[in-house]
Amino acid sequence: SRTAPSLQPVVELSPDSDDEYADVDWDNLGFSLRPTDYMYITKCSGGDSFEEGHLSRYGNIELSPSAGVLNYGQGLFEGTKAYRRENGRLCLFRPDQNAIRMQAGAERMCMPSPSIHQFVEAVKQTAFANKRWIPPPGKGSLYIRPLLMGSGPVLGLGPAPECTFLIYASPVGNYFKEGLAPLNLFIDDEYHRATRGGAGGVKTITNYSPVLKALTRAKSRGFSDVLYLDSVYKKNIEEVSSCNVFIVKDNVISTPATGGTILEGVTRKSIVDIALDHGYQVKEQCIPVEEVMEADEVFCTGTAVGVAAVGSITYQGKRVEYKMGDQCVSQELFSTYMGIQKGDIEDKKGWILEI
Ligand code: COI
Repeated sequence: SRTAPSLQPVVELSPDSDDEYADVDWDNLGFSLRPTDYMYITKCSGGDSFEEGHLSRYGNIELSPSAGVLNYGQGLFEGTKAYRRENGRLCLFRPDQNAIRMQAGAERMCMPSPSIHQFVEAVKQTAFANKRWIPPPGKGSLYIRPLLMGSGPVLGLGPAPECTFLIYASPVGNYFKEGLAPLNLFIDDEYHRATRGGAGGVKTITNYSPVLKALTRAKSRGFSDVLYLDSVYKKNIEEVSSCNVFIVKDNVISTPATGGTILEGVTRKSIVDIALDHGYQVKEQCIPVEEVMEADEVFCTGTAVGVAAVGSITYQGKRVEYKMGDQCVSQELFSTYMGIQKGDIEDKKGWILEI
């Protein structure tokens, strides 16, 4: 079958430039694709293990029109970032957690998954091969996007006979056009992101296009993103299209409990750990929308988004504003999270992996 690009070993490739940095306007990155030099690719055609992967030039891939991912959405993605520290070191943040999450997602979507070791090594190789695209310290990061997809042909509904694991990367800055300014969220009670028994708890590609309708509508009305409610009672908050959500009330931090409809965010988990270390009480529980409207603070977390303060939420025509600024709990947690990434705060948990 003709389902994957030819795999060129990296030794045959020569970098486009020996310059330390690619020619990029690092001050105006935003979150849009800037193709880099290399991608990583490997396949699994039968059995559970993937072939040894290789870096190849970044470019289009060839897929059968009947590939499982194209016809039935058999696909997963991940997101992780590589950073450049002031001392020049290149670092990754908890890529093993992405590997573990991909394994859970692969199990849910009936695909084999790369081992944790293969995943982490592949992320390292991709980041290193594209190191001239890792922004200068403080200017952003290299967003690394691992994909796992049913690339083999299927016609009747069933798991694809071949899967491809691919990683590409792009330098990025702030996810939202607001930059670091607080977000204005809209609670949509018409569309839902996930439902019980569905796949909302894993990072399948099928969780993302269905929210585009609500997201584009909210953006056209000037909102930053949409906060979804649970699909059964339509009264408890779940997550935002692109990230998890937290509320703070009287210094107690709450976030929706994961239970199949909430993505187990790596940033979510890290912020919970940091908050506990800082002595906060953290509750993972059901959060009725009324509690959100009465919260002191609201913030979002995600790999792409980072930790973003929410300035307002609008629900059924009512807009509520939240506490913002340096004294906020979210700011305190965010500075620790960033401090660990930058190396200003000791990494006692072994979260940082040097490339
Ligand atoms: C991430 O935070 O890495 C994500 O996958 C969210 C995506 C919508 C950009």
